[in-house]
Amino acid sequence: MSDSKKNDAEQDLMSKIVSLCKRRGFIFQSSEIYGGLRSCYDYGPLGVELKRNVKEQWWRSVVHGREDVVGIDASIIMSPKVWEASGHVTGFSDPLVDCRKCKSRWREDKLAEPKCPKCGGELTEARQFNLMFSTKLGPLEDDSATVYLRPETAQAMFVNFLNVQQAYRMKIPFGIAQVGKSFRNEIVVEHFTFRSCEFEQMEMEFFVKPGTDDEWLEYWKEARFNWYLDLGAAPDKLRLRRHEPDERAHYAKDCYDVEYEYPWGWDELEGVANRTDYDLAKHEKASGKKLSYFDPQTQERYLPYVIEPAAGADRAALMFLVDAYEEEPPSEGRKNGRTVLRLDPRLAPIKAAVLPLKKNDEKLVAKAREIVQEFFLHSVNAFYDEKDSIGRRYARQDEAGTPWCLTVDFQSLDDDTITIRSRDTMEQERISVDEAVKTVESKLRAKA
Ligand code: GAP
Repeated sequence: MSDSKKNDAEQDLMSKIVSLCKRRGFIFQSSEIYGGLRSCYDYGPLGVELKRNVKEQWWRSVVHGREDVVGIDASIIMSPKVWEASGHVTGFSDPLVDCRKCKSRWREDKLAEPKCPKCGGELTEARQFNLMFSTKLGPLEDDSATVYLRPETAQAMFVNFLNVQQAYRMKIPFGIAQVGKSFRNEIVVEHFTFRSCEFEQMEMEFFVKPGTDDEWLEYWKEARFNWYLDLGAAPDKLRLRRHEPDERAHYAKDCYDVEYEYPWGWDELEGVANRTDYDLAKHEKASGKKLSYFDPQTQERYLPYVIEPAAGADRAALMFLVDAYEEEPPSEGRKNGRTVLRLDPRLAPIKAAVLPLKKNDEKLVAKAREIVQEFFLHSVNAFYDEKDSIGRRYARQDEAGTPWCLTVDFQSLDDDTITIRSRDTMEQERISVDEAVKTVESKLRAKA
């Protein structure tokens, strides 16, 4: 395929995904009725469930599934001294260039050629543009009131290192994890939610004894890579890439990116970095508070090194959407093709759709509603749908990524059985109504 044809196909795939996101209620442009706001997005009823499931799976894997990691939920606005000490006030910037002709703005380090990608015009000299959003805390408008929206969740783990270690009597090696919003005034926002100004991070700082840091980096890069595989991402579209020395962040001794082959090419999903004692040392110096750890066994005192797996919830959700999207052509015995989201059931927004065969049959409707209530009682996210033909309802659930559809038909009224249809194989089997929730739960567990 020629390069331009490949680009068109990639564009086409992304626009189909964006359109499915809007049509089915995954993701909308923020403030759409006012023309939208650059790079800001709202998650709709299906999107919010998908992102919650991504975060839930991350938390299960990184926090609840282990003894040595605990969580926090810190404030988004922190003392500005945190960002001075961490180097963000002076160093968290991108090189910005302007086109002299059409006045558009670009990140110099993202340009393939030193000219405007839009009109070919000449560019200005680069100047550093700080990515942090600032605002004022309290009634004063002077500089002393300036605070920042956090550009990463990580710093809260560093400044709470001793609080958590002492309150929870954690022994090194141990980790502190957090999921929450971060904000960056990105110059280039691109590829739908991939790079936006407001996004959620899933980060964990793992404090280790210096000298053991290389092996822990190996451990976490593999663990994080396998998390994506386990949740169903295509193995041939995932890779681990070690950073070249000149692309590492100023604090990193070594770093790997988990990358995915998106429709526009290989790009970052998550970074796993060895941050050494950079942050703790900076905060110790700036705050004047000792942040070292005393090892009761060896009687040594030291500043721990830190291994940081830093992932993005929006980026992971987008990757899982892209990876799950499939257009199945018509086949023998099925004259219409279909669009299906083959999401891992653990990530699927709706686990089971409950469908009465006919909406104007009171008995079918009542039975279907009873079944859906059972799912609610067991906290399994189910959805009741009676509108349109059964075929159209199946098609809607395939597009929503719902792994199982349960249909109440006339036989159900006689023998208390229903059909369960698999999204992936489209095969149906009959199960008893009493077994409906248990069957879905055990299928979900089989994937977990
Ligand atoms: N604490 C380290 C750190 O923040 P990062 O590579 O800048 O490292 C970590 O960010 C992850 O956060 C990225 O791999 C990505 O998944 C997500 N992320 C970063 N900037 C983003 C943006 N502008 N929009 C969406 N996600 C972003």
